[in-house]
Amino acid sequence: MDIKNKVIAVTGAARGLGFAMAKLLSEKGALIALIDLDIEATNNAVKELPNAKGYACNVAQEHEVVQTFSQIKEDFGHLDGLINNAGILKDGLMVKTNDDEVQKLPLSQWQAVIDVNLTGVFLCGREAAASMVEQGSGGVIINISSVSRAGNFGQTNYSAAKAGVAAMTVTWAKELARYGIRSAGIAPGFVETEMTDLMPEEAFNKVANLIPLGRMGRVDEIAHTAAYIFENDYLSGRIIDVDGGIRV
Ligand code: NAI
Repeated sequence: MDIKNKVIAVTGAARGLGFAMAKLLSEKGALIALIDLDIEATNNAVKELPNAKGYACNVAQEHEVVQTFSQIKEDFGHLDGLINNAGILKDGLMVKTNDDEVQKLPLSQWQAVIDVNLTGVFLCGREAAASMVEQGSGGVIINISSVSRAGNFGQTNYSAAKAGVAAMTVTWAKELARYGIRSAGIAPGFVETEMTDLMPEEAFNKVANLIPLGRMGRVDEIAHTAAYIFENDYLSGRIIDVDGGIRV
């Protein structure tokens, strides 16, 4: 796909990886719909990109997602791409002991991550695919998974959601190819953003020491991969690991 003049929606686009991907695609001539929960940060991000619009939306809420994608269609008249990037962390061991007392991961902590990181990806992917199928001119959906999809200490909720995201990516590639829609994923390792700032120091140091390239990733390195997926018309149904060589 030639990115120039294409309309691309990016979720969680107000900062971090989402904003970096929106910025690079915008530099390549795309018109960007920035979707985020944080409307103030979104409005600031929109000011930095030409031909961009911001949408306040919680991707975990079906009615908000349906309304947002319908508004994007009204505003831009078309939708060619989606990056499902919005995600949160609420890490914790499934069970742990404290003074011989067994503590359990609360269901609410499981559910909050599943709602945003898995259901949110499904809802946005569904609405974007429906628009693309209606238009009949194909499209590209990129889902942001994680190296944690293989299972990571303290991340029962996050790992399960990111494994689900990887599986949905492959499923959509198979289901949507007949409409000219490609679906692919990116599984970043550890990238410097506000999200990784939230990791407990002990866990962070443990992981950082395991990265063969000896450093965290940069947001522009993930954005570069997103542009590559858009531009390579034979790439579908695969998750690209961009992780400095780390395997967890
Ligand atoms: P971040 O925390 O810096 O930014 C996430 C953005 O998503 C924020 O602007 C936030 O307001 C928005 N957001 C959160 N919940 C939302 C919701 N319910 N609806 C709409 N927007 C919502 O995160 P970061 O680091 O940029 O991560 C982006 C994606 O990349 C996430 O899916 C994350 O799991 C994934 N990832 C990040 C890695 C990293 O090392 N930073 C590594 C692997 C994956």
